[in-house]
Amino acid sequence: MEKKIVKAAEYIKSQGIDTVETAIILGTGLGTMVKHIEVDREIPYKEIPHFPESTVEFHSGKLIYGKLEGKQVLVMNGRFHFYEGYSLQEVTFPIRVMKLLGVKNLFVSNAAGAINLALKPASLMIIDDHINMLPGNPLVGRNLDSFGPRFPDMSRPYDPEFIEKLETIAGEEGIEVARGVYIAWIGPSLETRAEYRLIKVMGADVVGMSTVPEVIVAVHQGMRVAAVSVVTDICDPDNLEPIVIEKILTNAAVAEKNLVKLFRRLVADV
Ligand code: HPA
Repeated sequence: MEKKIVKAAEYIKSQGIDTVETAIILGTGLGTMVKHIEVDREIPYKEIPHFPESTVEFHSGKLIYGKLEGKQVLVMNGRFHFYEGYSLQEVTFPIRVMKLLGVKNLFVSNAAGAINLALKPASLMIIDDHINMLPGNPLVGRNLDSFGPRFPDMSRPYDPEFIEKLETIAGEEGIEVARGVYIAWIGPSLETRAEYRLIKVMGADVVGMSTVPEVIVAVHQGMRVAAVSVVTDICDPDNLEPIVIEKILTNAAVAEKNLVKLFRRLVADV
C-alpha cells in the first residue's frame, strides 16, 4: 500500500506539482469552482499510477493544481464513491497521496439530502460531525504507522476554527448556512421513507454517499478538515417525492455559487 502511495505521489511531483498545503474535493455537480482557479497543471486520474478511475458521468476525473485567491491549491475534480465498486481504501487513496504532497488542510464539498426539514433546497450546511454508515472503515487492516495512529481520535473531525471561519464568512457575505451532522449512506439507490425515518432517529441532518471515508483518512493523518454540504433535495418521509437527478444537479448549481464564495475566502484565510 505504502509503495503505491509513494509511486502515485512521485508521478504527480514529476508532473511539476510541488508541495501544496491546501486541497479541495469537489462533489457531484460542484465543479465550477474550477473556473476560478488559475491552473498550472491538470492531471487526469487515469494517468496517475494506482489511482482509481472516476466512473460517474458528471465527474471529469482530474487533479488540478493551481492558484485560488493567490494561494496554491490542489483540487480533486471528481471523487470516488464506495457505490461505484471501489473499496474504501481505493476511495481514500488520493487522500493518502495528498499527505505525501504536503497537504495540511482539506476542504470537502458534497451534495446531500436534507433530513432536517428546517433546511431548504439549494442551501448550505457546514458539517460539524458525521456518522459512518458505510459498510466498513477505510482504516480497517494494517495501520499505516507513518501516516497516523491505530486508533485516531474523532472527537472533532471537522476543525472548529474552520467551522467558525466559515460561519463568519457566510455572515459577511449574507449567505444563510446551517451547521449539522452528515451521515454517509451506501447508495446508489436513494433511501426509502422508512430509511429516512431511521436516519432521522440516528441524529443526522443530511444524508449523502461520500465524504466520511475521506475525512476519516484525513483526520488519521493529522489534516485539518472543513466540509460543506449542498442541500439538493428534501427527504421528508411523509411527503416524499421521487428524486429527479436533474433537479439535484440544478439545486447543486444554485447553491454552488455560495459554496464557491465560502471556499475562496476560506482558502484566502488559511
Ligand atoms: N440521499 C443520499 N444522497 C444524496 C441525496 C439523498 O437524498 N441527495 C443528494 N445526495
